[in-house]
Amino acid sequence: MRRPLVLGNWKMNGTKASNAELIEGLKAAAVGVDSVTIGVCPPAVFIAQIQELAGDSNICIGAQDVSVQSSGAYTGEWSADMLTEFGVSYVLVGHSERRTYHNESDELIAKKFKATQDAGLVPVLCIGETLEEREAGKLESVITTQVNAVIDAYGIEAYKNAVIAYEPVWAIGTGVTATSEQAQEAHALIRKLLAEKDAEVAAGIQILYGGSMKPGNAAELMAMEDIDGGLVGGASLVAADFAGIFNAA
Ligand code: G3H
Repeated sequence: MRRPLVLGNWKMNGTKASNAELIEGLKAAAVGVDSVTIGVCPPAVFIAQIQELAGDSNICIGAQDVSVQSSGAYTGEWSADMLTEFGVSYVLVGHSERRTYHNESDELIAKKFKATQDAGLVPVLCIGETLEEREAGKLESVITTQVNAVIDAYGIEAYKNAVIAYEPVWAIGTGVTATSEQAQEAHALIRKLLAEKDAEVAAGIQILYGGSMKPGNAAELMAMEDIDGGLVGGASLVAADFAGIFNAA
């Protein structure tokens, strides 16, 4: 059985004061929750603060991005090795906002995926189609291209210690959630693509849903066969809402 994983992506939000309040709320809500892995992905500048606040609680830490380089003259970047010094377990790679606002290509994202794994961390590969692509009947081809970018570069083995997050771009931050059937269809497609290469890898990988997930729709989404948790944006900024989601997993 795949263990549910619920990650909160704080995006570019938070202050030292609001982070402290949020983490205290989450720590209290997460006491005794041992059947779900819970994590938060704060802005990089706050990771050290969150590590200290999270202490030895069951709240894991993720980063929202990473460099493909390990060190050197790359102003504004941070390496996967640096993240390991702050208790980070997961790294989001290829979030649609990085693809859109920073022109990240599938090739670059695959390199970030590998750099993350090489440092002993777990990459969370974010994929998903735009509304335009969905309406043009390109869901399958978009997802196939995004999933295959890693396989083409590093082989199916690369998905052994990784997570995939399916986030339809049209559902991110819009309040419009994919129906559980739409999400399941995409998740099943992702698992099938992996199974064609390696059935064991496909059966083991956690595939998260992201896109306007809330306490009210989380249980139905995560009850679907191939949905193993969530990558939560807006609702992860309110302790009660995020707790409502991880308690539904
Ligand atoms: O990484 C999280 C996703 O972009 C979902 O964001 O829950 O605000 O729609 P959202």
